[in-house]
Amino acid sequence: MRDGTHVSIQRIKGTQDILPEASRAWQELESVMHRLTGEYGFQEIRTPVFEATALFVRGVGETSDIVEKEMYTFEDEGKRSLTLRPEGTASVCRAYVENKLYGLPQPQKLYYIGPMFRSENPQAGRFRQFHQLGVEVLGVDNPLVDAEVIQLAVQIFHALNIKGMELQINSVGCPVCRADHREVLLAFLERKRQGLCGLCQGRLERNPMRVLDCKNARCQELTEGAPTTFTSLCPECRDHFDRVQALLQTADVAYTLNPRLVRGLDYYRKTAFEIVVAEAAGTQNALCGGGRYDALVEEVGGPPTPGMGFALGMERLLKVLSDQKIELGEGRVPPLAALAALGQSAQRSAFRILSQLRRKGVPVTMDVMGRSLKSQLRTANRDGVRYTVIIGEDEMERGVAVVRHMLEGEQWEVGLEECVEWLERKYR
Ligand code: HAM
Repeated sequence: MRDGTHVSIQRIKGTQDILPEASRAWQELESVMHRLTGEYGFQEIRTPVFEATALFVRGVGETSDIVEKEMYTFEDEGKRSLTLRPEGTASVCRAYVENKLYGLPQPQKLYYIGPMFRSENPQAGRFRQFHQLGVEVLGVDNPLVDAEVIQLAVQIFHALNIKGMELQINSVGCPVCRADHREVLLAFLERKRQGLCGLCQGRLERNPMRVLDCKNARCQELTEGAPTTFTSLCPECRDHFDRVQALLQTADVAYTLNPRLVRGLDYYRKTAFEIVVAEAAGTQNALCGGGRYDALVEEVGGPPTPGMGFALGMERLLKVLSDQKIELGEGRVPPLAALAALGQSAQRSAFRILSQLRRKGVPVTMDVMGRSLKSQLRTANRDGVRYTVIIGEDEMERGVAVVRHMLEGEQWEVGLEECVEWLERKYR
């Protein structure tokens, strides 16, 4: 503005302003998540939004898309390399180690809700700042944990009444069986090398399993019939996977086996799963992803500790809710009353009443712009309040307020001194 030109600063591509109209749905969604995770015995953990870059390089893995090309990395004044967290699991493991949570009773059942950052190509359902609800269970490798975590993810979808969801599961094995699988898979893929997309040709050397979940139609066609991890699982991984499936069946959790599900992060071992919603727009139909990561805590410097968790994309969830016309909860609870004061001394009286009511926990609002009675009544109507308390000069002189029921139109005169008690009674 200094040189007279108009400067317009806009939000960064791939980020969103969540405006009041939309934030109500966010709050509702978050409260469903707090409630359900609480019912399953999880406790909230909040970690910083930036961490040492090495945490994600080690944790998420050097060959993952996230580390290769999607991290917001910068140097601080001390020349330390820092990164805005692209996901929550590595941070939770770091916090588990740093705060010695392994010394507390196990398992540690933790959840988080918060923003994550990935420098991706923004498109429908894919943002650069997005929000996840994540849960992590640390310290126990029993398949019961896998089943319980998956059940919680599914229950969130049920609690929200989302239709058309599909739970897909797979076992990606452990380093022992993965080495065998890699060999047969590589032999298969080498024969198709020429036809694969550029990205997949690169993946052949670094992480051939990821070729299986390339979205490119030609790659999918060429890899039809590729050897899956199922055939290479070692006895321990096979047994674990069989038990997870048996437990899901016991709990009546419907699932499909997807041998191509490999997940985009390197830390997974054994169980991997995703929840997709069939009609979700475009290719961003994965609403939830997770799995077991039994070596991650050790990778970030802790004692050998198994882990299992998932994260749900909140923007994608809210999009599906809106596509399926699902309204969350009862929405905002409006204030009980609006105080409409006319003139300075009436305003002071109203402010006293407002303060006393708020101290007692009764939700009330008050005009702060000195607007006409008509426009104050219009605002009160829009806000959905039950009563408007009108205090004009005439009322001030007589020591009363006029209380109007906004829906029924009925009105009463209430002494100014009695107003607080009168409204409090109506609220309780
Ligand atoms: P992820 O599959 O990378 O897993 O992300 C989980 C979910 O976050 C996705 O299913 C999707 O709904 C949402 N999501 C991911 N990227 C974006 C984006 N750019 N825009 C919008 N939504 C997005 C993880 O992050 C693992 N930490 C999950 C986990 C926890 N595994 C074990 N514990």
